[in-house]
Amino acid sequence: MILVDERLPVRKFASPEIIFGSGSIELVGQHASNLSRRRVLVVSDRGVRGAGWTRAVESSLERSGLDIASFDRVRVNPRIEDVESGARRYLDEDCDLIVAVGGGSSMDCAKCIGIVATSGSDIRELEGVGTVRVPGPPLICVPTTAGSSADVSPIAVITDVERRKKMVLISRLLIPDLSVIDPETTMTLDTRLTVSTGTDALMHALEAYVSNASSPMTDLFALEAARIIGQSLPAVHRDPGDMGARERMMLASLYAGLAFSNASLGLLHAMEHALGGLYDSIHGEGASSLLEQVVRFNYPCARERYDELERAMFGTAGGVDPLVAQLNGMLEELAPEAAWKGTASGGRTSRV
Ligand SMILES: [Fe+2]
Repeated sequence: MILVDERLPVRKFASPEIIFGSGSIELVGQHASNLSRRRVLVVSDRGVRGAGWTRAVESSLERSGLDIASFDRVRVNPRIEDVESGARRYLDEDCDLIVAVGGGSSMDCAKCIGIVATSGSDIRELEGVGTVRVPGPPLICVPTTAGSSADVSPIAVITDVERRKKMVLISRLLIPDLSVIDPETTMTLDTRLTVSTGTDALMHALEAYVSNASSPMTDLFALEAARIIGQSLPAVHRDPGDMGARERMMLASLYAGLAFSNASLGLLHAMEHALGGLYDSIHGEGASSLLEQVVRFNYPCARERYDELERAMFGTAGGVDPLVAQLNGMLEELAPEAAWKGTASGGRTSRV
């Protein structure tokens, strides 16, 4: 922590209401009934429905006496068409609440379905920072990955296929009203998704901690997230059934999300969004492929902060070369077969 002899900066800290813990998915209906009078649009994808989590949320909603309409057509890297279809369904079904169940794709799509449905705007008009003027309906998020943190962030990312571009929307009106985080939902993730979303959470922590907009409040969450992920992501990878490690990863994802939502991100995410728009790559994998270059570029301007991150994750601090070597070693252990690490791990061919 860098507080001694420094004046504290003026900073805000925004967050939704948060419910965290195994079994909390059962509480969605109870909280939704406080927000909805008519009908709930449940936004999800086929994979999450197949794993049973969408139905579990719907059952909770039904037990609380709510009617349901479902929209399960969200794709990985959701597109403008997904948002438009979802908004039509929301309006046709006369809904007054949205519940998103899934990873970043479903939650980002749900956020945009809401603001398009209430404003009538074309989603392209809402791209950028602070352009959302009309709030969407109340939104409850139930994340099923430990990584995106879309359930606490003011950000949504939608792909414009025509322009081969990921549109980024940033507004405090995109912060969900309630996040119900049940770590048990991550038990059905396969190894690739566990690793790619977990490394995304790590990138969030690293970028938030070295951000110019960081503050003592975000530092607390960013550093602790990096510490937990350094231990728990390899543990989950070694034993996917380790529920304790799964819970810690979900907590670390939340911490990293609170950190970057209030400290912003950096070069790594800026570059990954550009690459993702061009190649439709998986976000956490694209981000991993850029990690070494970004750390080397930033390190001279934030040595102390990178050293603290290295100590938190690996127990030592030896400068940029050991830091990069340890990060690459961790990525190598997590996904030894992955071509996406590319040049970052020493000369493999990258698909980007
Ligand atoms: Fe990310």
